[in-house]
Amino acid sequence: MSTVACASKVNIRRFGQTPSGEAVDLYTLTNGKGMEATISTYGGVVVSLKVPDRTGTLGDVVLGFDRFEGYLKPPPYFGAIVGRYGNRIAHAKFTLDGVEYALAKNNGENSLHGGNRGFDKRLWTATHGTGQSLELTYLSKDGEEGYPGNLSTTVTYTLTGNNELRIDYAATTDKDTVLNLTNHSYFNLAGQGNGDVLGHQVTIFADRFTPVDKTMIPTGELRNVQGTPFDFRQPHAIGERIDSGDEQLLLGRGYDHNFVLNRAGPGLELAARVAEPKTGRVLEVLTTEPGVQFYTSNFLDGTLTGKGGKVYGPRSAFCLETQHFPDSPNKPDFPSVVLKPGGHYLTTTVYRFSTDSRR
Ligand code: GLA
Repeated sequence: MSTVACASKVNIRRFGQTPSGEAVDLYTLTNGKGMEATISTYGGVVVSLKVPDRTGTLGDVVLGFDRFEGYLKPPPYFGAIVGRYGNRIAHAKFTLDGVEYALAKNNGENSLHGGNRGFDKRLWTATHGTGQSLELTYLSKDGEEGYPGNLSTTVTYTLTGNNELRIDYAATTDKDTVLNLTNHSYFNLAGQGNGDVLGHQVTIFADRFTPVDKTMIPTGELRNVQGTPFDFRQPHAIGERIDSGDEQLLLGRGYDHNFVLNRAGPGLELAARVAEPKTGRVLEVLTTEPGVQFYTSNFLDGTLTGKGGKVYGPRSAFCLETQHFPDSPNKPDFPSVVLKPGGHYLTTTVYRFSTDSRR
């Protein structure tokens, strides 16, 4: 059920209904600068994101489905809020305060993206909306998907006057728990469905990344990117080194790795920049998080048809999922993902769009 205050300026329409008959709505935010974001109450999914290119022409830069039913099928997690724990937890278990918690094994032996029915497959309540922002809440009950504590979660999407999609994540709990919230938008700055992203130029402000084992769980090492295809400290095309035969790239079938962001402090800092040469569109990602998962949609294989009948082939998008590091609940040396009663989980990620006039 959606309950929105200040509804007058909010553009709402029905998207569909869940298998149990609950209404799913779409909220369209605009910023008066030509940018437009449409968000679903199911999964908090960013269903479309329209941004200008260097000629001012709007293009939808995220993959997704026209019809709600597309989001009910086994997921690539298009555009969704991912939780309670984004990315993987090894062997689908962790120990907290001496108690072992068992999670769903939905990725081989591991747990991925919150389990069988994570936050991407939940109906969120729209509690406040204006023309430029939307607040979504979800109460994840104690024991849901194996995680301890009633977790009260609020995610606020805001389109700023500076062509930014800002996402503020907040949560509180009544029992010690672990969490790692992110958004799983798949971007193609040339426009969704317009070919692969191999020509996009990527910069990631990270001196180190977390190499993985064959099940995609970090080994615990923070490896220097110097001299590897993971060195994006200067811009490189995604396709330049992706098929270089590097052992880590073979394990991920491309980039599917967590980068350890260079941070000066706890605030909002630039994590990555992606430029698409033909349209001139530029995406900058700023975050308060310590890491970002750079994923080159290695599991898209042309079997999904998305918005406007576009077929999503291999490497037709990239994700920059800001996060704490994968498997942190089992890695005491990684930054902590524990939230305690009385504590406030607050993180922010900004997807900032602009254009580059250089051709
Ligand atoms: C994340 C994971 C990938 C994959 C995608 C969704 O990026 O790291 O391995 O699961 O989500 O398909």
